[in-house]
Amino acid sequence: MIFANIGLIVASKMVGNRLNFAISKFKTMSTKSKVALVTGGSRGLGRNMAINLAKKGIDVVLTYNSNKEEADKVVAEIQSLGQRAAAFQLNAGDVKSFDNFLKQVTAHLKDTNGNTNFDFLINNAGTALYSPFAETTEEQFDNAINIHYKGVFFLTQKALPFINDGGRIINISSGLARFAYPGSSAYGSMKGAIEVLTRYLAKELGARQIGANVVAPGAIETDFGGGRVRDNKEINDYVAAATALGRVGLPDDIGGVVAFLCTEDARWINGQRIEVSGGVNL
Ligand SMILES: NC(=O)c1ccc[n+]([C@@H]2O[C@H](COP(=O)([O-])OP(=O)(O)OC[C@H]3O[C@@H](n4cnc5c(N)ncnc54)[C@H](OP(=O)(O)O)[C@@H]3O)[C@@H](O)[C@H]2O)c1
Repeated sequence: MIFANIGLIVASKMVGNRLNFAISKFKTMSTKSKVALVTGGSRGLGRNMAINLAKKGIDVVLTYNSNKEEADKVVAEIQSLGQRAAAFQLNAGDVKSFDNFLKQVTAHLKDTNGNTNFDFLINNAGTALYSPFAETTEEQFDNAINIHYKGVFFLTQKALPFINDGGRIINISSGLARFAYPGSSAYGSMKGAIEVLTRYLAKELGARQIGANVVAPGAIETDFGGGRVRDNKEINDYVAAATALGRVGLPDDIGGVVAFLCTEDARWINGQRIEVSGGVNL
């Protein structure tokens, strides 16, 4: 009798343990964080986006072009916020490298999350091109269009099979696609092309419940263009004077907006251009 009781207790404990294990496994599965891929996440706006995404409980895979050290710092900061993060090298203008890049990212996701997919693609990486229309060379043009348009087009296309249904794509444009400052004819028109592309993405990917939007920052104090908006007082004052809120933008003005667009509250915003500029050139 005693042995039968002990047997019963042991058996019920085993069932209990198995149940607890199953419940905790279910919890881990159901509370799995969503994942964002942010290009150019090592510095400036991309860094701020990555950190704000992490603050919303989203894991981040970010890319850098040459600055691994800065990328590693962003990864550490995201990890300290309790989210998973990793950094991979990507030249956003080198379409031929994208298959291999995605192979690395998806292998990493499979290892850490158990599947290859992610939820949000933030096409942010970019470099400045300031050159008067009459002096812009074919080489400058090709370099810029590869990074700012062709790269975005094909990275998004190649990433599509790995973006979960219900995911979002956010492309980064610029105020310079709405108004014209001399010296930005190539850059501004390429950002304009990104805005048109985004509407097509929203239209064609709606069937998979994937949304696509543009965030268009005004001039922001980053390293962009040699840090001219931040470090050149004349430019800084000029932009501040043209801005309704009376100052130049900071990275922190942008990252939270991108993170918001990746939340459930933003689910009905689709195919839109959201300018985040403090009201410049109104
Ligand atoms: N700052 C502004 O005033 C402003 C205004 C409107 C729009 N934007 C747009 O916002 C985006 C980010 O600009 P930002 O101000 O954050 O610039 P940033 O501070 O200069 O940072 C640029 C980021 O992009 C990466 N990157 C540069 N060239 C790349 C390439 N060929 N392939 C892949 N990654 C590359 C950099 O990586 P490394 O660290 O490895 O170099 C870095 O992470 C750009 O698309 C830009 O056009 C900026």
